[in-house]
Amino acid sequence: MYSLMLLGALWAQPAGRPATAEEIRARDITVFPNGAGLPAGGGDAVKGAKIYESRCALCHNKRGEGKAGEYPALVGGRGTLATKAPKKTVGSYWPYATTLWDYINRAMPFHQPRMLPPNDVYSVTAYILFLNGIVAETEPMNERTLPAVRMPNRDGFIPDARPDVKARR
Ligand code: HEC
Repeated sequence: MYSLMLLGALWAQPAGRPATAEEIRARDITVFPNGAGLPAGGGDAVKGAKIYESRCALCHNKRGEGKAGEYPALVGGRGTLATKAPKKTVGSYWPYATTLWDYINRAMPFHQPRMLPPNDVYSVTAYILFLNGIVAETEPMNERTLPAVRMPNRDGFIPDARPDVKARR
């Protein structure tokens, strides 16, 4: 009986083939906090402002202030995290600038993800960092400079040990 069930399960396997190297590359887009995975390229906030205006402002508003109850703010909130009304944004909360690149590259614009070429992602990332007062407007952002950007809340994440679970980092 058991072996018959197993046979049935094998039978139900769809015919498949291993993914090709090219198919794996197309999906292998993770950028790690230390910048591993960032493609060659670059941009700056001056170029990013134009891309932001045409591709992002519709939802995130003119200067990243967001739209209350609809679309998240990307700017502001510094110094509010420990208050009764914390405002979590890229500028106040996110620990790594490289995560911003990864997030925009994989998920934004919301209705058309993966449409921006790498240089545009660098530029719009630079613009959001600039709006948050983290980089200068003409500072080049590329696979070397972006991982070196120090985010304001970089050290705000601490291992939270529980009585039953040991904290590990
Ligand atoms: C059609 C509306 C829309 C457009 C256009 C859009 N976004 Fe977003 N964005 C969203 C929504 C909705 C979320 C929240 C998604 C979620 O939490 O799952 C979001 C989240 C984000 C976040 C994460 C915010 C956070 O702190 O969690 C970033 C960064 C971001 N968008 C950047 C961009 C950039 C850069 C562009 C332009 C290239 C863009 N977005 C265009 C709707 C939009």
